[in-house]
Amino acid sequence: MAGGRYPDPDSRSAQLHRRAQQVLPGGNSRLTVSMSPYPVYARQGAGFRLVDEDGVERIDFYNNATSLIHGHAHPAIVEAVTAQIARGTAFAHPTEAEIALAELLCARAPGFEQVRFCNSGTEAVMNAIKAARAFTGRPRIAKCEGVYHGSYDPVEVSLDSPPSAWGVPDPLPVAYARGTPPGVLQGVVVLPFNDTERSRALLEAAAGELAAVVIDLLPSRLGMELASPEFLAMLREVTRRHGIVLIVDEVISFRSGPTGLQGVLGVQPDLTALGKIIGGGFPVGAVAGRREIMAMFDAGAGKAPLPHAGTYNGNPVTMVAGRAAMELLTPDAFAALNALGEHTRALLEAVLRETGTPGAAAGVGSLFMLRLGAAPPGYRSQYPTPERQARKLALAQHLLDHGIAMNPSLMGAISTPMTPAQPAALAAAVRSGLAQAAAQALPLP
Ligand SMILES: Cc1ncc(COP(=O)(O)O)c(C=O)c1O
Repeated sequence: MAGGRYPDPDSRSAQLHRRAQQVLPGGNSRLTVSMSPYPVYARQGAGFRLVDEDGVERIDFYNNATSLIHGHAHPAIVEAVTAQIARGTAFAHPTEAEIALAELLCARAPGFEQVRFCNSGTEAVMNAIKAARAFTGRPRIAKCEGVYHGSYDPVEVSLDSPPSAWGVPDPLPVAYARGTPPGVLQGVVVLPFNDTERSRALLEAAAGELAAVVIDLLPSRLGMELASPEFLAMLREVTRRHGIVLIVDEVISFRSGPTGLQGVLGVQPDLTALGKIIGGGFPVGAVAGRREIMAMFDAGAGKAPLPHAGTYNGNPVTMVAGRAAMELLTPDAFAALNALGEHTRALLEAVLRETGTPGAAAGVGSLFMLRLGAAPPGYRSQYPTPERQARKLALAQHLLDHGIAMNPSLMGAISTPMTPAQPAALAAAVRSGLAQAAAQALPLP
């Protein structure tokens, strides 16, 4: 069955959601699977196809938050993982599989001299920051307002600061989670994304205390706005001059090409936080970068400057899955993915024009995000306000009902099994959703 009826209070997904709420707060273990009135429960997937617990089949454009670059259950990954599981899933000993994936990654990007594995993108960002602190002996970091880097306290600062805190005259550090200690806020300098001169002044003022600047080159919560060349050049120059570690968070954007988005934009970070695609569909994170900073993790014969343990770090199942996934990503594979991403954005732009809907199809390479609404100038223009989120959710629900799985922020990713038929289906479903919203005078723009 393709498409289906959403929402349907009698569906198995709705029933599972009611059951889940008894034993899991909010019915889940992960904020980003929440969806109102209930999320669709997955049963199985193959390639770009996702089948839910009601037997409804959809095209999966979200790909587990962009991590499944080969879609579901790619045969080469299934084979590698199955063989590894039969040999054992985890050992309190290092394995050759860990070396092989590290070698592959170091051969990819010029700045990846060494790699340290962990189990999530959150951990990757956290470990990169801790390495920067150990290396510089400084306590604070700088990050951009409104930008997501996972669930580590310092990078959550000002993730969803209210408009009253935006740029008055500079962004104020605002706690994200209730109970955040005041010291966490004091430890963070908040930068206005892509505002080169104000950010430069903020960095210069705090330089002596800054261990790191953490940056996402394509922040999803800012509507996939690309970091400008001027902003990046300023960050690199100021950090280099003051001995601050420049950390680029490529947890999502590393799928932009053989050397990630840093290769496309010509940025040379000191450390890179990796995750998602490098695990081939298994939990993963990694820090990669300059040998002298990575040495903070090295215990040698004694105590490491940054002691770093983890029961499942570098576990062989993730390592073989990641290697199989990354080996499939040849330059030709990236070129095909990125061309299909370009095609998808062009189709979505055409739908917006045809339906007279203000908005844009943002993104780079195989990543895209449908923006809805007029865009006032400034880096907060796409910030997920309640009104913007409600409009996007209405369209995401329509898409679910028309055979397309996307997340409520309308962010998507192309996977290698896709052909132009899937973006065409997406564009058709978006067209009918926008037309229906206009006919019903729903608050879609
Ligand atoms: C840019 C960015 N950094 C870090 C993370 C955190 O990764 P994880 O969810 O694996 O902890 C994410 C997750 O979506 C992300 O988008």
